[in-house]
Amino acid sequence: MADFAKAVEASKVPPDSMLTVEVGGESILIANVDGKYYGIGAYCTHEEWDLSEGTLVDTEVTCAGHGTVWDLKTGKGIFDEPLPDEPLYDVREEGGYLYVKKR
Ligand code: FES
Repeated sequence: MADFAKAVEASKVPPDSMLTVEVGGESILIANVDGKYYGIGAYCTHEEWDLSEGTLVDTEVTCAGHGTVWDLKTGKGIFDEPLPDEPLYDVREEGGYLYVKKR
């Protein structure tokens, strides 16, 4: 995914919500925080729970599995053991669609 790829209609990710999308073989969690979009890997690096099933507060997602708190800005998780970072994606809106690109 060297360039931005079309992901989903922007209306599917309204403010203060998140959605897992599949783009180019990658699973990406897109979150809308007060109109600003963030993208990180969709599956928790602890035990692969879908982060869209967790809770979104500001720019943090708490995994529904075992409570890892993921920072949407850095891709880093806070847990009681070190976990691999989530990959980060840039998300941009154009013509009513969201486009994603791996950083
Ligand atoms: S799967 Fe996310 S905290 Fe365990």
